[in-house]
Amino acid sequence: MASVPSPTADSTAIGPLQLVEYPHPALLRRAKPVSRIDDALAAAVEQMFDIMYDARGVGLAANQVALPYRLFIVNCEGERGHGEEHVFINPVLSRPRGTAVQEEGCLSLPGVRMDVRRPERIVIDAWSLDGQPIHLDVDGLLARVIQHEFDHLEGRLFTDRLPEAAALEVRRALESFREVHAGKQSRGELPAHDALVAELDRLEAARCG
Ligand code: NI
Repeated sequence: MASVPSPTADSTAIGPLQLVEYPHPALLRRAKPVSRIDDALAAAVEQMFDIMYDARGVGLAANQVALPYRLFIVNCEGERGHGEEHVFINPVLSRPRGTAVQEEGCLSLPGVRMDVRRPERIVIDAWSLDGQPIHLDVDGLLARVIQHEFDHLEGRLFTDRLPEAAALEVRRALESFREVHAGKQSRGELPAHDALVAELDRLEAARCG
């Protein structure tokens, strides 16, 4: 569990990935655009699909597995071999239209589910893993998942989008996530804050800017 990153010869290495929960610092900072897609990053994306399917999710942003990169994956069917697998790198959202309210949950906040209001339709421009441009006009569940994952890249969680009464309702849950996180750090089950941030900085330096 205590995976304190050991100094490796390869400063671009990506270790085994695992889901991180609020308030891990990876979730609370803006992810940086990826300027280099290498084999390690492609393998990490494969690992992200495994992790997402194991957790029965339909979308996963890189910073949910402590990778500080602007990329996320989606499969609205949530099952390997079913539906369409999307990888969106350096995504840009535009042309929000309409409004829809739907219940959302998040693998970084297990157990919390709330209604979230979002535009019903958006356009996404991004890059695929093999460097092809993607341009999609989407609605329904795909539009919702894309917007949820895009928020992650901005360092936001769906709980940041709740009206005041609902925000009060989740405040306690967020507090208990913070207590669990602090407890793990004090028992040495999670690296200290500065070590987690240093690891994010290292990964960022390897593939951004
Ligand atoms: Ni999420």
